[in-house]
Amino acid sequence: MATSDGLKSVDYGVEKIFEEAQDFLPLLGTDYVEFYVGNAKQAAHFYKTAFGFQSCAYKGLETGCTEYASYVLKQDKIRLVLTTPLNSKSPINEHLVTHGDGVKFVALWVDDATSAWTETTSRGAKSFMEPTVEKDEHGEVIRAGIYTYGETIHMFVERKNYNGEFLPGYQKWESDYNPTSVGLKFIDHMVGNVGWGEMNTWVKWYEDVMGFVNFLSFDDKQIHTEYSALMSKVMSNGNGRIKFPINEPAKGKKRSQIEEYLYFYEGPGVQHIAVATDDILTTVSKLRARGVEFLSTPPDDYYRAVPQRLADHNHELAEDIEKLKALGIMIDADEEGYLLQIFTKPLEDRPTLFFEIIQRMGARGFGAGNFKALFESIEREQAKRGTL
Ligand code: FE2
Repeated sequence: MATSDGLKSVDYGVEKIFEEAQDFLPLLGTDYVEFYVGNAKQAAHFYKTAFGFQSCAYKGLETGCTEYASYVLKQDKIRLVLTTPLNSKSPINEHLVTHGDGVKFVALWVDDATSAWTETTSRGAKSFMEPTVEKDEHGEVIRAGIYTYGETIHMFVERKNYNGEFLPGYQKWESDYNPTSVGLKFIDHMVGNVGWGEMNTWVKWYEDVMGFVNFLSFDDKQIHTEYSALMSKVMSNGNGRIKFPINEPAKGKKRSQIEEYLYFYEGPGVQHIAVATDDILTTVSKLRARGVEFLSTPPDDYYRAVPQRLADHNHELAEDIEKLKALGIMIDADEEGYLLQIFTKPLEDRPTLFFEIIQRMGARGFGAGNFKALFESIEREQAKRGTL
């Protein structure tokens, strides 16, 4: 079927595939995303000020943790943890030296962390942490972890017997500085970049080890510009709550954004976190006012083509297109509806991790119809960096 602009996707019969998928790893949602950063105190200030996250919990010298400090931030269902080492001997340093600031843990909320670890390690996952019980006066949490691509870890978090702020060992973080939310609700999907020829290896890993299904694929003939190309496959768990697209670079005339990422992150890792809002106009207005930088707005002819692209799928835009254009928000449509999306510039000096803001109006795709406009915009940034 065509997603939009004639781009073809593989079987979109999601429910059918899910019925067939054996869900040995039931996932309730994303529990938290933990970054290793060079300065967690300052990073926490940035995510509060610029992105509207709220102070939630803290762990560090004041709580008796002498190895690292962690700040937990919350916005609706999204939890970010920002962790920095407190001395040169912490292994966190090695990660920072190699990768710079980036995502270390993509933690998944489960009902049974022991079973999640047993099921995945028995299917070939490399263990990061055996099921471990952590306790405090608020109850107990069981966590276990496995390695995925690069040095990234999936933690399984079982918290049904816990009613504290975050995890045992953390204290509530009361702050006098509380910027308001920008309306971010939950993590829609998280994308991983892997190396040349590794996409299918990791697709198979998510199928075999995690019981995920591949429900959308794009090859380099579909995702390319004049200069660069990439390939992408979208992996989803059984109930569709967790979606991990996986990208690999493809040959082009110049260096693709995936190659640039792999070069600067020095290996595979999380490329972007897509967060959902139900009012993208308000969310993006607020983010821009708070200094968040987005990729450049697509040209006028992109917006001129939008009404027809929606009409081709029998949808009508509820939003004012001029307002979307003024904020640089892109629109894509498929049979089921449309979606609105925009991408930030990288959030660190190394051109690696960025955020996507997405509002789904029925569509379940990932903005394939926007890939060309999006990548041309990224290439303009790469040209400025001298990395195209
Ligand atoms: Fe995305």
